[in-house]
Amino acid sequence: MALSARRLARLARAAARGNKTAPAASRCFSAEPKKEEPVEKTSWGGLADQDRIFTNLYGEQDWRLVDALKRGDWHRTKDILWMGPDWIVQEMKDSGLRGRGGAGFPSGLKWSFMPKNSDGRPQFLVINADESEPGTCKDREIMRKDPHKLVEGCLIAGYAMRARAAYIYIRGEYFNEAMVMDEAIHEAYAAGYLGKNACDSGYDFDIYLHRGAGAYICGEETALIESLEGKQGKPRLKPPFPANVGVFGCPTTVTNVETIAVAPTILRRGASWFASFGRPNNRGTKLFAISGHVNNPIVVEEEMSIPFRELIDKHCGGVRGGWDQLQAVIPGGSSVPVLPIDECEEALMDFDDLKARGSGLGTAAVTVMDKSVDMIAAIRRLSHFYRHESCGQCTPCREGTGWLETLLERMEVGDADVREIGMLDEVSRQIEGHTICALGDAAAWPVQGLIRRFQPVIEERIANPQGFDFEAHFQHAWSGEAFANADWTKEFGGGKDVLVDPGLTEGPLADKPIIRPAEPMHLH
Ligand SMILES: Cc1cc2nc3c(=O)[nH]c(=O)nc-3n(C[C@H](O)[C@H](O)[C@H](O)COP(=O)(O)O)c2cc1C
Ligand code: SF4
Repeated sequence: MALSARRLARLARAAARGNKTAPAASRCFSAEPKKEEPVEKTSWGGLADQDRIFTNLYGEQDWRLVDALKRGDWHRTKDILWMGPDWIVQEMKDSGLRGRGGAGFPSGLKWSFMPKNSDGRPQFLVINADESEPGTCKDREIMRKDPHKLVEGCLIAGYAMRARAAYIYIRGEYFNEAMVMDEAIHEAYAAGYLGKNACDSGYDFDIYLHRGAGAYICGEETALIESLEGKQGKPRLKPPFPANVGVFGCPTTVTNVETIAVAPTILRRGASWFASFGRPNNRGTKLFAISGHVNNPIVVEEEMSIPFRELIDKHCGGVRGGWDQLQAVIPGGSSVPVLPIDECEEALMDFDDLKARGSGLGTAAVTVMDKSVDMIAAIRRLSHFYRHESCGQCTPCREGTGWLETLLERMEVGDADVREIGMLDEVSRQIEGHTICALGDAAAWPVQGLIRRFQPVIEERIANPQGFDFEAHFQHAWSGEAFANADWTKEFGGGKDVLVDPGLTEGPLADKPIIRPAEPMHLH
C-alpha cells in the first residue's frame, strides 16, 4: 500500500523529532503540507468498502496467510516497527481509538502506561478473547475469518509496549476459533514474522494461545490473569494495576481482540484516516453485532456514531414486523441499561451519545426486542446469568445478584408488592460501585434500566397478574419455527414432563406444535 505524501511528511517529522542532534535545517521539509483544519462531519454511517478494516468478515476469502497477504496484512510491518515504540503509541493516541472490550478506555494512553525501562522483569501483552458477554460475537468473527490481523496486531502492540510475548486468552467454547488462531500463529512463525528477529526487525516476540474453561468472569482482566496463571478466575483488588503487577507478577496490558486487530491498519493508513470517522471522542470504525428481532442478524463494520435506526434498517433489513413493532434495545451487550423505542429513534451508536441516554456502547452487541418480549422476563433472565457468573468474592455481588433474580422472578408473575420495586432498585444500588470488579455493576445496570424505563409495566403486572398473556409473549426460535425439540427437552429439561400444545390459531406459527414443561419453569 503506497504511503501518501502527507503521511510521508508526518513520518519524516516524527523521525526528525527523534533525532535531536540533527541540524535544524535537516528537520525542515519543504514538502510539508499546510496543516488543514479538520472539518467535523454532521452525519455518520454508510462506511465505504475501501474504508473497511475487516475485509474478510464474512469468510469470502481464505483466512490463511496467502489470502491475508492479499488483503494487505503484514505489509511493511518491519517499517512500522522501525518507527519505534513511542511513534506507534503516539499514532494510536492520535487515532482516538478507544478500547473495544467494553469500557472504552483510550488505547494509546493505556499502551503508554507500560514501563519504558525494564527493571529486569519481562513485560507481557495479553489479548482478551474471552468474549462471554451475552450478545457479543464480534471477536469470534475476527479470529475465525481474519486471524492474521490479530497476530500482526499482537506483534506491533507488543513491540510498542516493549513486551516479550503475547498471550491470547480464548474462551474454551471457541474451539474452532482456537484451531484457526493456532494455525495462523504457526503460519506467522514459519514465515519469519514471529519468533527470533520477528519480521527481520531485530526484535524477538512470541505468541502463546491459551484456552480458558468458559467462565464469564475470566473476561475481567485481573480474573483473566489469575486464570492464565492456573488459578481460579477471581478478580484481584486494584491497585496494583496490571501495567505494574500483571501476569506472573510482571508488567502486563490486557486488551481486547478488536482493539489490537485494528492497530496495524490504523498505523498503515494513518491516525488521521481512522480519526476521520465518528464524532469527536468516538473515533473510528467499529464492529457491531446485532441480534434479536431483526430480519437479518449480522456482525457488520460501520462508522462509529452511525444512527441506530440506519444501522438496523440498512444492515439488518429492519425490525421484524416493521419499526413500529420495536419495543426496546440493549445497545451494548447485556450489561448496559435498556433503551426504549423513543430513545432508539434518535440514538447514535457511540460511547457518548448512548451514555447521555442512560445506556452505553459497551461491546456494541445490539439486542433488539420487539413487542413480543416480556421485558420483566428478559431482565430476569439476565439477572439469572449474573447470579450464576458471580465469582462470590464480594458479599454485595454474591448475595445481591441472587436477590435481584428472586425479586424479578416474583414480579414477572405479579407475585409482589408495588413497594418492592423501590427495594429492587435499592438492592441494585447497594451492589453498584461496592464490589471488587465491574460484574456487580453489570448485574445492577440492566435492572436499573428496567425500573427507569418500564416501571409502569411492573406495576401493571403486580396490580393485575391475571391480565398478562404469557402465551402471547412466549419466545419462539428466531427462525419463527416453534421450538419442538421434544427429545432434547425430555433428556435435559430437568427431568420434567412436557406438554405438546396444538399451537397458535393464527399468524405464521399457526398449527405448529409448541412444547413446554408441564410445570412452569424458566428456560435457563
Ligand atoms: C465481568 C467482566 C467480563 C469482561 N469480559 C470481557 C471480555 O470477554 N472481553 C473483553 O475484551 N473484555 C472484557 N471485559 C473488560 C476487560 O476487563 C478489559 O477492560 C478489557 O479487556 C480491556 O480491553 P480494551 O482496553 O481493549 O477495551 C470484562 C469485564 C468484566 C468486568
Ligand atoms: S463483583 Fe462479583 S464477580 Fe466481581 S469480584 Fe466481586 S463477587 Fe466476584
